[in-house]
Amino acid sequence: MSLIKANSCNFKPIAPMNINVSAKRWLRLLCRSAILLRSGFKTPSCVPPPADPRTQPEVLKPLLMVNDMHHNFPDGLQLRNSKPTDHARSINVLKDWWDGRDLTWMLPKLFLNHFTNTSFVIEKDGELIAFLIGFLSPAKPKEGYIHFAGVHPDYRGVGKGKLLYQRFFEICKENQRDTIRACTSPVNKGSIEFHKMIGFAITKGNAEVDGYQVTLDYNKPGDPKVLFEIRI
Ligand SMILES: CC(C)(COP(=O)(O)OP(=O)(O)OC[C@H]1O[C@@H](n2cnc3c(N)ncnc32)[C@H](O)[C@@H]1OP(=O)(O)O)[C@@H](O)C(=O)NCCC(=O)NCCS
Repeated sequence: MSLIKANSCNFKPIAPMNINVSAKRWLRLLCRSAILLRSGFKTPSCVPPPADPRTQPEVLKPLLMVNDMHHNFPDGLQLRNSKPTDHARSINVLKDWWDGRDLTWMLPKLFLNHFTNTSFVIEKDGELIAFLIGFLSPAKPKEGYIHFAGVHPDYRGVGKGKLLYQRFFEICKENQRDTIRACTSPVNKGSIEFHKMIGFAITKGNAEVDGYQVTLDYNKPGDPKVLFEIRI
């Protein structure tokens, strides 16, 4: 009866072969101890294998911090970096400053949330006089881009636009960006002349409007743009 019970529990007596196995284990343990003794109990160092560069995040050059840029001009104007709260003020003046064209859709708030250290405003007694929204291209490490720039109609033609562009160029140079790009609509003749006077070249497009090279359907169908480029 007891034998049947033992079998039903898959009981197996230790075979003489298993004694050999256990002897082998003892031999291995002895060998390891001998190696440890000889090495003075030093365990192998845990130096991690070299990292695979393909799986490592790209190390980006830190952007020079220019957030504290502030300049007072003798005529009472002040230049400073943009703040997210400047978005609403910029949107408010767009139509007026751009000859009645409503370009609000081109200026979502993200520009003033994320590019404040490369964007500026000029103010006088709290009133917005001029602004520039630019950024250092994350995808093109040698390039900067000016997305929007505008000057209050009463303050045009006295160098404020040029001043904002020059400040942006300085930041680009400090960050090894040697090419600046911008674009405008062919209807905006003032902007085209301004960019030309600053030194921008019009890049070759795929059509011509009013004698200017344009790229058709740039942001949407029926939206030609004059593209500018300058090497600094
Ligand atoms: C385009 C704009 C930003 C220029 O600003 P600004 O302060 O009047 O320009 P500046 O006084 O700095 O002028 C710089 C140079 O451009 C020339 N310039 C500026 N506007 C010009 C125009 N409408 N026609 C011809 N030349 C012009 C100036 O004569 C000056 O030349 P100089 O350096 O030889 O003296 C301004 O007219 C504006 O806000 N326009 C409406 C918004 C716009 O179109 N923005 C640009 C595209 S996003």
